[in-house]
Amino acid sequence: MLKVRKAVIPVAGLGTRVLPASKAIPKEMMTVVDKPVIQYVVEEAVAAGIKEIILVTRNGKSAIEDHFDSHYELEAELARKNKTALLATIQHIVPADVSIVSVRQAEAKGLGHAVHCAANVVSDEPFVVILPDVLVHNATGQVNDLARMIGEFELNQAAQIMVGEVPIDKVHLYGIADCNGIMPKSGGSTAIKGLVEKPTQSEAPSNLAVIGRYVLPAQVMGLLAQGKPGAGGEIQLTVAIDELLTEQAVDAYKMMGTTYDCGEKLGYLMANIAYGLQHGETADGLRSFIEALD
Ligand code: G1P
Repeated sequence: MLKVRKAVIPVAGLGTRVLPASKAIPKEMMTVVDKPVIQYVVEEAVAAGIKEIILVTRNGKSAIEDHFDSHYELEAELARKNKTALLATIQHIVPADVSIVSVRQAEAKGLGHAVHCAANVVSDEPFVVILPDVLVHNATGQVNDLARMIGEFELNQAAQIMVGEVPIDKVHLYGIADCNGIMPKSGGSTAIKGLVEKPTQSEAPSNLAVIGRYVLPAQVMGLLAQGKPGAGGEIQLTVAIDELLTEQAVDAYKMMGTTYDCGEKLGYLMANIAYGLQHGETADGLRSFIEALD
């Protein structure tokens, strides 16, 4: 049985939808309550059993790698002042058995190109792709969606693409899945017949949008290596997955959690409110504040 141990997280994007905030800091380092967005995403991967995280990054984004590295002066200072709880929040952000490595994407040639930059590190193993703009929030006690997708892949080797329903006037923003008219149950998978990147409303085969979590076999890297440009002239992951469909089973997994797109302003604000209402230090104060708003 092929185990899924590696996750590719493309972080080389310019973050133009959240300018000017992302001019000098990576958009992945923007804070939701008290942690950068990238930390939530890495924690989601770790909770799903991932042991090796491969960041696909670029110049000017080293704050992301620094965040997961140790910070000797700060740790020594907090230890000296006996600030144990605070010290724990910056130490061991990932467990000791999880490694984080990075590769570079020297040119902005699309998501498929970014994923292919990790090909040598992924090697011949199946892997997960996580788009870091999208936070997936699963209810307390619920096995996270990514872990369920990995479980499904390990059971029957079918690639798993996380989907969620979007309003029909938003299909042009996403990869859209053709599931032969079948609507998968939340938390369940159904076979995909085809995938189309950013279709018009009339071209869209459904309103099931690719949400930013994928479990893929190693042969996707070979398909991406051919570098066929798709929508917008970029090398699209969606195109490679659509080709994979001719070789093996690919499933749409319908998510159970709630998503927040932190790569755009409204989604980022909504994430801060949703996560702030669940954080022990901020929940009560934030709720009172919202209730008192006109
Ligand atoms: C990318 C993918 C698209 C997917 C979307 C999810 O598009 O190409 O298939 O639906 O992420 O956020 P982007 O948002 O990078 O244009």
